[in-house]
Amino acid sequence: MNVIETTAELRRILAPVRSQQHIAFVPTMGCLHEGHLSLMRKARRLADIVIVSIYVNPMQFGPNEDFDAYPRTFEADAALCEKEGVDIIFHPHNLYPADGLRISLKVDELDNCLCGAARPGHFDGVVTVVNMLFNIVQPDIAIFGEKDWQQLSIIRCMGDDLQMNIEIIGEPTYREADGLAMSSRNRYLSPDERNLAPRLHEVLQYMRDAFEQGESSAAALIRQGRAKLADAAIEPEYLEIRDANSLQSVTTIETPCRILIAAKIGSARLIDNIPLDLPEHAMETV
Ligand code: PAF
Repeated sequence: MNVIETTAELRRILAPVRSQQHIAFVPTMGCLHEGHLSLMRKARRLADIVIVSIYVNPMQFGPNEDFDAYPRTFEADAALCEKEGVDIIFHPHNLYPADGLRISLKVDELDNCLCGAARPGHFDGVVTVVNMLFNIVQPDIAIFGEKDWQQLSIIRCMGDDLQMNIEIIGEPTYREADGLAMSSRNRYLSPDERNLAPRLHEVLQYMRDAFEQGESSAAALIRQGRAKLADAAIEPEYLEIRDANSLQSVTTIETPCRILIAAKIGSARLIDNIPLDLPEHAMETV
């Protein structure tokens, strides 16, 4: 496994293999867990060369967010990548010009809701860095976790709108045995908070059960979900049902949708989502 720190070096190594080998790319901010490893395994199955980037992107953190505190665990991350058969880790020190970017990408509308509403500018930072990374790596496919559903949807739109020739693949959320979605931020949870955190997934499942038993009104499902959260003394930042592709809010579930939640448990802001598929759509296991 090669660890490469500069764009020039990565380009030099990839130039001779690009035309013959299929390249899969897994962008990350490090602090790798089983969820990331499942993305790498998928990449390994689909391509000849697997490249993982590890870069904590300052542009996607707001002024009061955890950029400085975000865990940097490069040695452990590199050992995990090696074990998963990753070919190259791209670990740049800084991707931004010293005096700042003169040109960046801006997400339109898709970031007015859900996490984007609470984190202004976050998705502009995500698409700007992912676009940079795509330009550097030029992969055939790129793999993202479904836990960040809004991020995945926005990156898919970026690929379509900007005519990128990269297949964007979503991988189902990887969960702890009690249902908690794996996240680098789970390490901020105290033991009590860790016990509480799986309630988020339980509430999503409870809402999906109600949908499968015939409730198709989004407002009614959200009311039931909020009541369950209140029982656990959890005040969500949002609990919403949206069309899975357009992210538009819905009143009745008539298209494949997602139930999405964000809530602070202690100091950790956790997110999760699950699909609401209509009977004719294949049910996804989460
Ligand atoms: O999902 C993440 O870890 C980040 O948002 C990403 C896609 C690596 C961009 O910094």
